Amino acid sequence: MLSQQSMNIVKSTAPILEVHGVTITKTFYKNLFEAHPALLNIFNHANQEKGRQQTALANTVYAAAVHIEKLEAIIPVVKQIAQKHRSLGVLPEHYPIVGEFLLRAIKEVLGDAATDDIIAAWGEAYGVIADVFIAEEQLLYEEAEQQEGGFKGFKDFTIIDRQQENDEIVSFYLQPSDDSKLAAYLPGQYITVQVKIPNEQYTMNRQYSLSKSFDGKSYRISVKRDNKNTPAGKVSNLLHDHLQIGDQLALSAPAGWFTFETTDKPVTFIAGGIGVTPFISMFKNAVDNSSSATVKLIHSVNNATDQLFVQDLSIIAASSEQSTYTSKLTAQDGQIDRTYLAQQVNINGIVYVCGPVGFMQMINKELVALGMTAENIRYEFFGPAMNI
Ligand code: HEM
Repeated sequence: MLSQQSMNIVKSTAPILEVHGVTITKTFYKNLFEAHPALLNIFNHANQEKGRQQTALANTVYAAAVHIEKLEAIIPVVKQIAQKHRSLGVLPEHYPIVGEFLLRAIKEVLGDAATDDIIAAWGEAYGVIADVFIAEEQLLYEEAEQQEGGFKGFKDFTIIDRQQENDEIVSFYLQPSDDSKLAAYLPGQYITVQVKIPNEQYTMNRQYSLSKSFDGKSYRISVKRDNKNTPAGKVSNLLHDHLQIGDQLALSAPAGWFTFETTDKPVTFIAGGIGVTPFISMFKNAVDNSSSATVKLIHSVNNATDQLFVQDLSIIAASSEQSTYTSKLTAQDGQIDRTYLAQQVNINGIVYVCGPVGFMQMINKELVALGMTAENIRYEFFGPAMNI
């Protein structure tokens, strides 16, 4: 428990942290990686360069500080982040290191304004927040180890098949190299891929949605080739250009909170481009479990050559009279807009959205304008979570 005095200090200085949050976390990461370069084996270098991770961490620390008296309020967010941490192998011993460098960064950025009392109070608060994360992650590690076929950390999988889905996207089918059982996953979950790229000093990690329903035989991930010349593109280009059937790839056990929740309300899935990958299993799950409510999947792509998984999605849609699958070709039919959403979406139901950040912001804004409540619009970012 945090002392009353520390709580007061943290609450009164939290707004200052919000103002300087991004500078503090940028300073923090710079110093952290200088002192502990091995942590670059865990963090996504591309996110660091885009500044996205800085924003995510700053937002969360600020949110936690605001709710320091009632940390239960941030538990749902902690549960989401803990899934990502577990899939990357974040461990309890990492927390004191992060805490030390976060406090040093607060001191460095705020200068004399950060008195000893303020630093001590934030140190105490960080300890309380970190304990909530550690406890949540402990549960997830135990779950992953106890699950049949589950494991902690990373395990080698063998590529048993490889399919070019379109010009930009390749699917890989993977089985445990040690012939162990395949851990089941919830529709919508992802795995972390860990690769060592020749001439790169640190391992690189990326999350990819499992792009088919669990069948006990193999995992499938579908990887979009990112721009070759950006740090973000290094892993996808390696997978596209060098990984063939018979090669091995290190994967984490499945993780992720963006999963389908059974409901008797109408459900609409709206995907932009590669954002359709988690929806293949979620759509099937929704169709299989819907009693009488409609289940729709709308996939927005530029044109017919960008269409993806048409066969998978058509088979799922055909399995129930209540379900439909629409491929919205924006180059010929126009972008999804408010009028289109008003016609297609039952706003008294649940909508799941996944795709590029700008796409999700637009859909979210238009659905709210049509009268949907935030709790019925569910979305996942590819990359660090951000506010939309
Ligand atoms: C991701 C917060 C501690 C490593 C994230 C995200 C948030 C966050 C908000 C983005 C989640 C998402 O993308 O869905 C925090 C907070 C911490 C904490 C508030 C302390 C209380 C740690 C520690 C480590 C760590 C101790 C390990 C050294 C990572 C990594 C990612 C991540 C590697 C993935 C994003 C990337 O690679 O850029 N964390 N974190 N975090 N966190 Fe933490």
